[in-house]
Amino acid sequence: MSDVPVITVDGPSGAGKGTISHMLAEALGWHLLDSGALYRITGQACLIEGVSWEDHPAVTEVARYLDVSFCAAPSGEILVVYKGVDVSRAIRTEEGGRGASTVAAIPAVREALLQRQREFRRSPGLVADGRDMGTAVFPEAPLKFYLTASASERAERRYKQLIAKGENVSLARLLEDIKERDARDSSREVSPLVPAEDAIIIDSTATPISDVYELVMLKVKERGLN
Ligand code: DC
Repeated sequence: MSDVPVITVDGPSGAGKGTISHMLAEALGWHLLDSGALYRITGQACLIEGVSWEDHPAVTEVARYLDVSFCAAPSGEILVVYKGVDVSRAIRTEEGGRGASTVAAIPAVREALLQRQREFRRSPGLVADGRDMGTAVFPEAPLKFYLTASASERAERRYKQLIAKGENVSLARLLEDIKERDARDSSREVSPLVPAEDAIIIDSTATPISDVYELVMLKVKERGLN
């Protein structure tokens, strides 16, 4: 087994995992795995290939041979490219999230993406962001976090982000989407969204992200991982 350390950050959508994981990876100088992006790319690749998200064998083939690359744009932004098509924006839409959550419920798709995720574990360390990083992908990780917040708080945060980007969205619709995605991610039979037994659970409903980061860093230091 690899002795490269991994810190896992799991939780429902909109709980601040992405922000915390980026900050942590940057502060430690470690690699970052955004596992949700792999499921989002799979969902998007199905749309490009004309494969229905309900056609489990075909979706599994797409996941198994996912021809994806990440390249830096002149602006410094990291572009996600599938078979030469820039899908960076498409995978971040609400539909992209729905597709990801739908294909992620297929056990063979999760199996197909498992090794690809484990390959991100490279020296000096990895911060892994997702739903099952601490339970299924890196169960032996020395430090695990589970970030959560109420559904209404998460919907509100997402609403503010989208409004700031100039998008026309409804808060009620976002809340419905979040609840639907929570239910699908938590009830699937393989690797459902649950905290690992040894995860540190942080509820950020009433806590600013800067305080969450401080708490996370404190734990990292306590474990001697910095
Ligand atoms: O983190 P995200 O919102 O980008 O993830 C999109 C979807 O992908 C999420 O609703 C469920 C799925 N997912 C998963 O099943 N397992 C992971 N480790 C990460 C994401």
